[in-house]
Amino acid sequence: MRVVVCCRRACTQRGRVDGGGELRITCLGHAGLHIETSCGTILCDPWVNPAYFESWFVFPDNSGLDWDRFGDVDYLYVSHLHKDHFDPELLSRHVSRRATVLLPDFPVPDLREALERLGFTEFVVLRSGQVVDVGGLRLMGQALQSPADGPLGDSVLAVDDGTARMLNQNDARPTELDALRSFGPYDVHLLQFSGAIWWPWTYELPEAAKRSFGAVKRANGLDRAARYVTEIGARHVVPFAGPPCFLDKELFDLNDLTGDPASTFPDQTVFLDYLRERGIKGGQLMTPGAVLDVSAAHCEVHWPGPAEQALEPFTDKTRYLRGYAARMRDKIAAGKRRWPAGGIDLLAELKAWFEPLLELADHIRTGVGGPVLLDTGDEQPIVIDFPAGQVRAFAGETCRYQFSIGRPLVERLIADHQTDWVNSLFLSMRFKARRIGPYNEYVYTFFKCLSPERLMYAEGWYASRSHDEEEIQLGDWITQRRCPHMSGDLSRFGQTTGSILTCTMHGWQFDLATGQCLTSDDASHRISSRPARTRKPSKRPSPARVKRVPALPELRPLDPARAAGDRSKALSAPKDLPSASRPGKRAAATKARHHVRPPAGDLGTVLPSARRSSTVAASIRLRSCRLPRRLDKKSAPMSPGPAAGAWMRMPAGDVVTAAIDRASPA
Ligand code: FES
Repeated sequence: MRVVVCCRRACTQRGRVDGGGELRITCLGHAGLHIETSCGTILCDPWVNPAYFESWFVFPDNSGLDWDRFGDVDYLYVSHLHKDHFDPELLSRHVSRRATVLLPDFPVPDLREALERLGFTEFVVLRSGQVVDVGGLRLMGQALQSPADGPLGDSVLAVDDGTARMLNQNDARPTELDALRSFGPYDVHLLQFSGAIWWPWTYELPEAAKRSFGAVKRANGLDRAARYVTEIGARHVVPFAGPPCFLDKELFDLNDLTGDPASTFPDQTVFLDYLRERGIKGGQLMTPGAVLDVSAAHCEVHWPGPAEQALEPFTDKTRYLRGYAARMRDKIAAGKRRWPAGGIDLLAELKAWFEPLLELADHIRTGVGGPVLLDTGDEQPIVIDFPAGQVRAFAGETCRYQFSIGRPLVERLIADHQTDWVNSLFLSMRFKARRIGPYNEYVYTFFKCLSPERLMYAEGWYASRSHDEEEIQLGDWITQRRCPHMSGDLSRFGQTTGSILTCTMHGWQFDLATGQCLTSDDASHRISSRPARTRKPSKRPSPARVKRVPALPELRPLDPARAAGDRSKALSAPKDLPSASRPGKRAAATKARHHVRPPAGDLGTVLPSARRSSTVAASIRLRSCRLPRRLDKKSAPMSPGPAAGAWMRMPAGDVVTAAIDRASPA
């Protein structure tokens, strides 16, 4: 063991020994980082093996890294249990069990137990928002605890070794920014900017509608990340933790090969362009093996090889991904052979598993409010009857949600007793969905809580949920400060257009004139609001508590051309690299081919709707697609055909009023 002298005290960890006085961050791909500090090394979220039924792969390929070297560390930080952050095979083969785990303070013990099963024994629990000294390192974690946060929890880690300060936000969406900022100022901020979930691609919708929703989601993700960047104010920003790439030919089209403005999987260069367009400086592109040396006075990225090679995943993406897919073909085929478990009576197994859980799930059953269909291709589909608390054979009734999932996948979920189907099945994109009405978060919460411990936690969370009473003024409206969805701070993430408030944390919308949530029909998601010029109702807090929101730094609308094409300006590091621009013509051709413009604003053209119903979530102007007229839950139940879930209506002209799915797993 080497001994180094730390800035504050003598350390005995395997930290930097070159006396560089800098923090060294090596990108390991996706959310993986190897951090060399003056007081030891930290390995974060290493992931190399395909995840989610062989759907997700690391982009760019990181399989050639020296994992034994990167696994020989003092500290291990796994931000959460999603399979693109927690790779048990890699941890078990390459990571030193002597490493001390920096454990987020999650309410359920699943992450700790999973790491203990792999042989890790030393844990330091990072209490949310508390600054601790660990071996000379100043650290702060923040654990997000809502059932909708990742697999029942996601987290961030702030690190200060006396030479530099960094914030690893990975794919978390923290709401308590004051605590995070108080740890700064930061030299480096690493965060996700790209989508990760199945909406809208697995839903049976008209293609034009999918593209329109995809454009909104892409724009929302870029905007949200830019807001975090502005709020944190670090000198350097590294986009990471996404997107994955999809190498199975069944999923290959999900990759954003052309800078498609409707794709929810934009790559790092798109986000760096987005920041530059808004005058936000300091963006740094890192690929697996790239090293960033940073101190308070200096920041430099070193590439693992020739620049052309390092940038090929972005400059010639289609060719790069086809070659990558060819290398992984056997691995994908071998994985698929392991899916079927055989000899399983699905109905009997699911009945025995789910019904005891449904007995415990008062809030979730009420929240779902209807039966959910699982169609595995068998003669007899299965219904989870949430109101009745039963699992039974489908009897032809109308179902709130309908999932079509291949039988081998369900067999594997049962055989492995996967207690979080979001973190196994849904993120795989290997299913189809329909629904009646808007997005229902209880449905997905149930599928990620398939054990009594997890379910009881979610039930307790719903039971205790209460809204912050502090009020703020947004535009012409006074509203509660905390978003009814997951308590996002609306003074930072709220955006009004007329009476429509959009919380850009997850894109949920509210009508401030009525208090109605437009994204969910759950009454608990109503928002408290009133026009700024009216007297406040007697029961509300005193005017002294109303906080005027200072103007946010201007975030201009998404420029589709920039989002789609010219990436040359994204590559800000290092200076001697050649441009990685894409032909602007390709972007223009892509746009022309699809005939659907991305939203005109950064969250789409959101229109106050004169004809809103309980199924309405947002109004989006589609330029050139046509959708079936008058489809609603009464007239178009779950039947085959373009109704596709029967929740889309077209009240007039080309203004489409539709629900937006905002599930938020990473
Ligand atoms: S916190 Fe999720 S949309 Fe506001």
